[in-house]
Amino acid sequence: MARILQLSLNGRARSDAVSDNVLLLDYLREIVGLTGTKTGCDGGECGACTVLIDDQPRLSCLTLAAMAEGHRVDTIESLTTDGQLSAVQRGFHEKLGAQCGYCTPGFIMASAGLLRRNSRPSEDEIRDALGSNICRCTGYVKIIEAVKHASALCAAGLSP
Ligand code: FES
Ligand code: FES
Repeated sequence: MARILQLSLNGRARSDAVSDNVLLLDYLREIVGLTGTKTGCDGGECGACTVLIDDQPRLSCLTLAAMAEGHRVDTIESLTTDGQLSAVQRGFHEKLGAQCGYCTPGFIMASAGLLRRNSRPSEDEIRDALGSNICRCTGYVKIIEAVKHASALCAAGLSP
């Protein structure tokens, strides 16, 4: 079965014909052409495919596109405003939170979701929020520093 999927994607209303069994990850990458959301394990283990649905982190490899009907979906492509990096993007850039970068969109979206809900998280809250994301390069220390820096940037007025 196919349906007309209606949702808000990165701040814009969209209507797309999709099959009921299409994953949100495949909808974003292959139908819409937003390739910033990465395919990693394809099985709910790595977090590379994390997007926000109504500001909550969701693994798009385990989410049917149809489940986004009527909801607000944000991907990594939504964060930059008028060429300016968001607080989380700046945090990862300035604190060297990325190496190969493959995991980075997922970490950034999970972090953005956290800071939208709680702009001054403790280190434990940061670690908890990123517990579904795996990085094979950084050792995580720089990633935690990046999110703390992003939190400070939010306090200075940047959006997550
Ligand atoms: S690709 Fe979705 S959790 Fe790994
Ligand atoms: S920066 Fe390479 S996997 Fe995280």
